Amino acid sequence: MDIPIQVFITRKIPHIGIEMLRKEGYLVSVWPEERPMTSEELMMASKSTDILLSLGENKLDAYFLQQNQHLKMISQFAVGYDNINIPEATRLGIPVGNTPDVLSEATADIAFGLMIAVSRKFFFNHKMIIEGGWGSFKPMAYLGQELSGKTLGIYGLGAIGMVMAQRCQGAYGMNIIYCNRSSNEFAEEKFNAVKVDFDDLLAQSDVLSVHSVLSDETRGKFNAASFSKMKSSAIFINTARGGIHNEEDLIEALNNKTIWGAGLDVTNPEPMHKDNALLNMENVAILPHIGSATVEARDGMSRLAAENIISYLKSGIIPHCVNPGAIQ
Ligand code: DGY
Repeated sequence: MDIPIQVFITRKIPHIGIEMLRKEGYLVSVWPEERPMTSEELMMASKSTDILLSLGENKLDAYFLQQNQHLKMISQFAVGYDNINIPEATRLGIPVGNTPDVLSEATADIAFGLMIAVSRKFFFNHKMIIEGGWGSFKPMAYLGQELSGKTLGIYGLGAIGMVMAQRCQGAYGMNIIYCNRSSNEFAEEKFNAVKVDFDDLLAQSDVLSVHSVLSDETRGKFNAASFSKMKSSAIFINTARGGIHNEEDLIEALNNKTIWGAGLDVTNPEPMHKDNALLNMENVAILPHIGSATVEARDGMSRLAAENIISYLKSGIIPHCVNPGAIQ
């Protein structure tokens, strides 16, 4: 009798993917606790499984991968995979799947929502009411800025950035500029988007929204030097990864009015400390990394993570594979 394939899932995820895997006859176990696994717990669980279905919170570094060379594949429940040492996984022949596209609408909604929340000081005003500060009508207080006809600069124009561009152009007729390594011809045709270099992105954006991956190239990219090249009226939005901006430099840029405001769904570190200065700033809105937190997106991620596994085991093809070089 064949020994069933074992799949270990490092957190409770929507049932749809778990059911798909069980229907194939795989032995699926799920980390039962409402907290991330420690590295020791993860190491132990990984030793006795064939396939790991992981989350961004699991650090799968070179040491972890070397100790778990038996893994047939890693299926990441996220579009981002900066928690995994991909070159090492490739070297060891461990393919990694991810879950793009299904969370693009949800994540772009968070970027779009943060942009409006910052431009009109939603979070600050909400907190002010809770603290009993809603006094008389003040003609000169709480003034925000309007977004119509402004320029949206996108750093990393992929699937999520495309939805953000669509939202911003549809709602506010915004001009779209973007900074990518390669041209996005579809965006140029659809949105009249213009590719610019990084310095022009900084100089021309009224709203600058980050949608890139976290890599050696993008880590700390938005720092004091970058903020100093932005408009003093600019709004900085990051829904990608907190490591792409330097948080201390951002605080300083906001304090010094080098830039006007910021909206973050990702911070560095996560979770953000409750005493972080950003949380008390008037032109700032912070969310706790909820870009993909909709029923639709999380069901989609669960389904794709399972599909990646099933397809690989049946046909040797991972529909969404981030390191095809790992597959012989
Ligand atoms: C992703 O999919 O990368 C989101 O940030 C959730 O981790």
